[in-house]
Amino acid sequence: MYVVRNRHGVRQLRTGWADGPAYITQCPIGTGKTYMYNFTVTDQRGTLLWHAHYSWQRASVYGAFIIYPRMPPPFSAPVQDHIPIIFGEWWNADVDAVENEMMLYGGGPNVSDAYTINGLPGPLYPCSIKDTLIQTVERGKTYLLRIINAALNDELFFAVANHTLTVVEIDSVYTKPFTTSAIMIAPGQTTNVLLTANQIPDGMFVMAARPYLTSVFPFDNSTTIGFLKYNTTKLGREKPPLPPSSLPSNLPSMEDTAFATNFSNQLRSLASTDYPCNVPKEIEKRVITTIGLSLQDCHVNETCKGYRNKRFYASMNNQSFIRPSRSVLESHYLKLNTGYASDFPEKPPNVFNYTGVDPVAENINMNPEFSTRLLEVPFGTKLEIVLQDTNFLNPENHPIHVHGHNFFIVGRGFGNFDVYKDPAGYNLVDPPERNTVAVPVGGWAAIRINADNPGVWFIHCHLEEHTSWGLATGFIVKSGPESSQCLLPPPSDLPPC
Ligand code: C2O
Repeated sequence: MYVVRNRHGVRQLRTGWADGPAYITQCPIGTGKTYMYNFTVTDQRGTLLWHAHYSWQRASVYGAFIIYPRMPPPFSAPVQDHIPIIFGEWWNADVDAVENEMMLYGGGPNVSDAYTINGLPGPLYPCSIKDTLIQTVERGKTYLLRIINAALNDELFFAVANHTLTVVEIDSVYTKPFTTSAIMIAPGQTTNVLLTANQIPDGMFVMAARPYLTSVFPFDNSTTIGFLKYNTTKLGREKPPLPPSSLPSNLPSMEDTAFATNFSNQLRSLASTDYPCNVPKEIEKRVITTIGLSLQDCHVNETCKGYRNKRFYASMNNQSFIRPSRSVLESHYLKLNTGYASDFPEKPPNVFNYTGVDPVAENINMNPEFSTRLLEVPFGTKLEIVLQDTNFLNPENHPIHVHGHNFFIVGRGFGNFDVYKDPAGYNLVDPPERNTVAVPVGGWAAIRINADNPGVWFIHCHLEEHTSWGLATGFIVKSGPESSQCLLPPPSDLPPC
């Protein structure tokens, strides 16, 4: 087994060697080998996650990455305790086999058998009553829930019966606090919320997570639950909590795009003197890229199990990303000019009504190119990337994650991005800052990046099946003129290929 660990979203400057994605910044750590990453966290505090970044290994190799603040947090409620809430996805089968089979026949992957909270599926799954999270709280106290979605392929809704959640941070960036009945969280995202145990009478309250569904592919439609237990509530020692007869009424239904949209629209950077919002007001480059699924013809004598007996893939601007055999960062650093190209198309090669027509019926964007094409920008570029979902097979909410930099979500919308109209509506005052954006289903999101971290940074859909299919690219930030703007040399013990 190879594992590469990725500190998803950590702001570490010039040390991309410690970023983790296999064949992007390093080759995998060999079976039985150990490797120590060395990096400094710069001007960042909050909740992130770390996970394996090779194949589907992050199904079981993941955890919370918490950076404690040096200054008191910018919200006034005294916090009694910090409670990590990490969602995962569980397969009874070996996930390597699930991925291999999907790539062998080009069909959709088998779906997971359960969702988990802190590794525990909870009583709605067979034989799992004893594997249930029971979190004890005290009435009148406020808790900080550090919520992390480490699931592979599913965006999730989360709610706690009878309790509201006050969002104060996303992806390790403080937000303007707002109170909500539930949250939507995409794989790769984190959300810190305050929860006050204020129920009279107290007792046991269900905490539940289930998918936010935008795809027509088969998916795991199950629900994981745990319990918030007030400390004065007695549990019979021999009696595990029974499955509740109903889920929290505040848990959104699986197709609730209106909730997901409204929730995302409320996210705002704090934009205070202590925590300014450094969104680029002007840009030097705008890249528009489609994101979506693809179909490739089946070779003669092959069995393909995707739609119309073809193979499923995914692409950005018709490029289905192939990982090279040596890491792009090494090739870039050594100026080898092989294994990758820095000419990712900056506009969709075919302009069509992305969200208004059925590209498969109209034969548009069939058989994308397999390539390793990345974007390359000078140090300090103020970059905008517009991510445009397509109707190819189905429109879908894609969580796009950018390595090495946070970005600002300056605009989002449904339908096709209009370069003449939409920028006028951008939020350039307090847009949410994060590292993973859930691009609206059948819509678009515009993100702005201060490209000030020299190196090679993967950009990909955080639905692991889509990364396997090539919904990825990357960007290279060239070193700047000052020595403090240059990529550092690789560690001498970087795992070889
Ligand atoms: Cu959370 Cu490229 O990863």
